[in-house]
Parts: sequence; structure tokens; C-alpha cells
Amino acid sequence: MTERIRIPGRRLLHSPGPTPLPDAVLHAMSVQPMDLGDARVDANIAACEHGLRRLLGTREADVFFYASNGHGVWEAVVENLAAPGQALLVPGTGHFSESWAVQAEALGRRVVRTPWREGWPIDASAVAQVLRDDRAHNIQALLAVHTDTASGVTSDLAALRRALADSGHPALLVADVVASLAAAPFGMDALGVDVAVAASQKGLMCPPGLGMLAVNARALDAARRNPAPRFYWDWVRRRDELSYRKFCGTPPQNLMFGLQAALHLIEQEGLDAVHARHRLLAGLVQAAVEGWREGGALDFFARDAASRSVSVTTIAVQGVDVAALRTLARERFQVAVAGGLGPLAGRAFRIGHLGDSNPALILGAIAGVEAALRALRVPVGQGGIQRAVQRLALLQD
Ligand SMILES: Cc1ncc(COP(=O)(O)O)c(C=O)c1O
Repeated sequence: MTERIRIPGRRLLHSPGPTPLPDAVLHAMSVQPMDLGDARVDANIAACEHGLRRLLGTREADVFFYASNGHGVWEAVVENLAAPGQALLVPGTGHFSESWAVQAEALGRRVVRTPWREGWPIDASAVAQVLRDDRAHNIQALLAVHTDTASGVTSDLAALRRALADSGHPALLVADVVASLAAAPFGMDALGVDVAVAASQKGLMCPPGLGMLAVNARALDAARRNPAPRFYWDWVRRRDELSYRKFCGTPPQNLMFGLQAALHLIEQEGLDAVHARHRLLAGLVQAAVEGWREGGALDFFARDAASRSVSVTTIAVQGVDVAALRTLARERFQVAVAGGLGPLAGRAFRIGHLGDSNPALILGAIAGVEAALRALRVPVGQGGIQRAVQRLALLQD
């Protein structure tokens, strides 16, 4: 057996979730668990509720945390908002809209889809048509993935709210901001979003394991009227002053301490600055792709430049062994990137640029990916790293 050489230094993690953890988050989690009567537990939960409300741009929505991943909170939405046999509308965004739709169907709900056009955001006119056609108002909610992490495309939530308003359809608007929160602008109340769905492991810079939701009064009312049997996911049951009931059991305390620290970091940096940083970092990766695509083997998967995500860039490939590329980038050049998901498996790879990141880290990621591409003899034109450096150098203060 050959002995593996340990390469010192930190491996750069550029999957679009999980993302790297800031030291402040790591340190905040490094505490002994507490008994549930300890005042620090309640203070931590209150701080997370307050911070998450501010981040989501909501004044009055209830916030619920789950010891779960994103699929858990997806399930919470389905279980609370539709009874078996009732319908949910899931506009096509790619892998993640389809996964949510499949999960809802597995739970016995009827799903109406609008078609996904590869590389494009949600087609709001198709959504409007479905809503107009649903004269009996069978559709209970519209479940929209804001940024589809597989396709790297961000859709226009305001257009979906307009489609609901114009059609006079009473369905609730649910936004999955798992991949966009704390990266792209989002305002729950301003957009008229009834439920926002998030998870800890992306822009929130925490480990995986915390799912979270904000639910406005309209959506809570719908949940109250929904006769579907449920327990762990039930929002009404979780509306309680006791932390034990808020979590339907023991809170994942250390993750919650990490979240409190992450929310504090975001608050300190300022949300506008956080968004601007993500735009800058996405711009550097996009500059690199502009260079690589000249070689003819790679291109943006997102066709519409305006809807390219600030969190993740999906790069479509032709004649490139994506698995070999990822392995080489990770094992030899210390840059971990993600592969294509669902229908994009083998057809794309993805560079995550969200969360605790900065230009130096992004340039390192671009350079590592480019080195792996060159090592595999993938034509990359004059190269992307120069373009990214140039873009950074030309930025105004
Ligand atoms: C947009 C989006 N929604 C939902 C999920 C599901 O989250 P999880 O993998 O934590 O279950 C993901 C995961 O990457 C995602 O990117």
C-alpha cells in the first residue's frame, strides 16, 4: 500500500454547502451542553430567533428551528400546508425543485409542476397560467426554490408574488432560501413570502444539522386548518415559550450557539456588505469561466447572465471526466468543488462561493481548478485565473 503524503495547510472547501466555518462559529460551539433550565439556553434561542428574523427581513413571522437538514424543513412545509391529496405547485428550477416535488408526492400530496428549461430561471408566465387554470383553488401553496444549487440559477420571487396577485389565487408563497440566504438579497415581508425555508450549512456558515423556517400569520392559519396528522414537524405544537417544546425535544444546543455567532458576524459586517462581497466573489468566478470557455470545453450552465447565482457557479462541461477533475483538484491541489447533480451528473461541476469567503480564497479555488483542468489537458483558452486577478485588480475601492 502506498503511503499518502499529508499536505499541510488548509484544504479549500468550495462546495456550495457545507461551507467553511468561521473561527468564531467553531469557538462558539465549543461549549459544554447545558441543562434545559439554564438561562443561557433561552437567551441563545431568543438571539437566534431575533437574528434570523432580521436576516430574513420579517417583523412578525414565527421562527422554528429543527434538528434536521434542508430536507427536514422541506417536509415541515409539506406536512403543515397541505393534507394528503391536496395540491402543491412546484415551479421547475432543476434538481432541487424536482427533489422537493418528489418528496411531496412521497408524502401523498399532489404536485403540479411547471417545466424546467435547462439553464433558465422559473418561468413566471407558466406559473401564472397554472394558477389561472386552477379555478377550484386546489393548489394550497407555491413552493419556489430561490437559488437552485444544482443549476446555479436564481429566480425572481417578486415575479411569482405578482403571478399570484394577478391571478387572484390564494395559494401561499413558500421560498426555499437554503442556498441564497445571507448571500443574495431577500426580504420576506417585502416580497410577500409566507414561509421562508433555510438551513445552516451554506450562507449561514454553520455545520449541517439545523433546519429553520419563518412562518407568517397567514401560513400559520393554514397550518391550523390543515387536518393532516403530524407531530415533530407541526408548527402549532412548537409555538410555545418552553425551549423543550419549541424544539419538540432537546434543542441542538451547540449548533444553536454556532448559529448565534454566525448571525452576529453577518450583523457586524452588515447585510449590504455581505451581499456586495458575494457579488464580488461570484464576479471573480464568472471572470474565470469567461476565460475557460474560450477553450470550447466549458461554459456557464446558466444561460441568462442576470440570473447567475452569487452563491454557486455551475460549469457545464463537454468531454471532461468530472469525477477525475474533482479528485485531482481535491487530492493534489487541495481545492474541493462539487459535481453535477441529478440530470447534470457528469455534465457539470460547481464552484461554491458563499459564506465565510474572500477574494484570496476564491482565487485559490480558481487556480486549483484551473491546475486540475490543465493537468487533465482540458482546453481552457488563455486561462481564467488571469481574468479573475485582472477583474479584482480593476475593482474600485
Ligand atoms: C436549495 C436547496 N434546498 C434544499 C436543499 C436540501 O438540503 P439538505 O441537503 O440539507 O437536506 C439543498 C441542499 O443542497 C439546497 O441546495
